[in-house]
Amino acid sequence: MSVRRLYDEQPESFAFTPENQAWAREQIAKYPDRRQASAVISLLWRAQEQAGGWLPEPAIRHVADMLSMAYIRVYEVATFYTMFNLAPVGRYHVQLCGTTPCWLRGADDLKAVCRKVIGEQNRPTEDGTFSWVEVECLGACVNAPMVQINKDYYEDLDAESFERLLADLKAGKSPAPGPQIDRINSAPEGGPQTLVEPDLYNGNYARLWAKSKGKAGDEGEAKDAPAPKAEPATKTAQATKTAPAKAAETASGGDDAAKQRKPRGLKAPRKAGADDLKLISGVGPKIEGLLNDLGIYHYDQIAKWGEEEVAWVDDYLRFKGRIAREGWIGQAETLAKGGETEFSRRKAKKGS
Ligand code: FES
Repeated sequence: MSVRRLYDEQPESFAFTPENQAWAREQIAKYPDRRQASAVISLLWRAQEQAGGWLPEPAIRHVADMLSMAYIRVYEVATFYTMFNLAPVGRYHVQLCGTTPCWLRGADDLKAVCRKVIGEQNRPTEDGTFSWVEVECLGACVNAPMVQINKDYYEDLDAESFERLLADLKAGKSPAPGPQIDRINSAPEGGPQTLVEPDLYNGNYARLWAKSKGKAGDEGEAKDAPAPKAEPATKTAQATKTAPAKAAETASGGDDAAKQRKPRGLKAPRKAGADDLKLISGVGPKIEGLLNDLGIYHYDQIAKWGEEEVAWVDDYLRFKGRIAREGWIGQAETLAKGGETEFSRRKAKKGS
């Protein structure tokens, strides 16, 4: 990290606005007597926001006075943390992580983009749009390389996506923060890579065993196969409010198979068109197609499923317990009422 010094040109003075002053007093009051110094970071942060993204030296003194701290102690805090900018920054201030995981995954390429698009570190562009600085690990190493721009993280970048991101910001767009590749948070790119064998996580070891011996086909149990373990189905059922234990048991076949019921489908979507079933977590394009084949096109159809329908569809999709595990019924109820789920919100944000 480069040496962090106060900026050459400083304003004459700094004082919190009346609103910020009141807010600062509230923060200080949260701490016990003689422990008010604990509010130093939050006050410095508010001062930085008020000053337009950087921390002038008079602001550091102002905070020190409010907290009855020696100036040098507040300087130490302000100069230690890279979250405090000691010189003016651009409207979009890029903090580029250059620590080992990000460096191994291409942080140097991102640095080259910064130099090309923005210029040298710690110097805002002439129009004041951008500035950048290299910082140490920002704690998103699993999605390396990454940058923080103002308060948002942009992850899984490469030179091309980063340059596009900067161009979008410059054009006034609001690119979605988070991973810039096809994955959710730090989940594997392109979807799950483990536990993708339904029989394995459904506990249908008998069928797996039979397959491995080249005996039975897709259905049924081999005569001399070991008995399937019931535990995963039980766990699945306990983990859900929408599909009780019976549904999970039913989907496992056997005596309870009669308790399955095929859901009623429509011949075609309603006039307004089919709902995007992919807004339900766990429904991808393939499963949406299979549901459409059943005449299921709308959230409210799924919302009405009872245990028997859930069990039937579980079996049909050959993903026993998935509907319960992902909470399809609850999600469908929310979406049918025009609401949003955590998943649909994330998806919409990613697609915007
Ligand atoms: S190394 Fe870059 S976020 Fe941790």
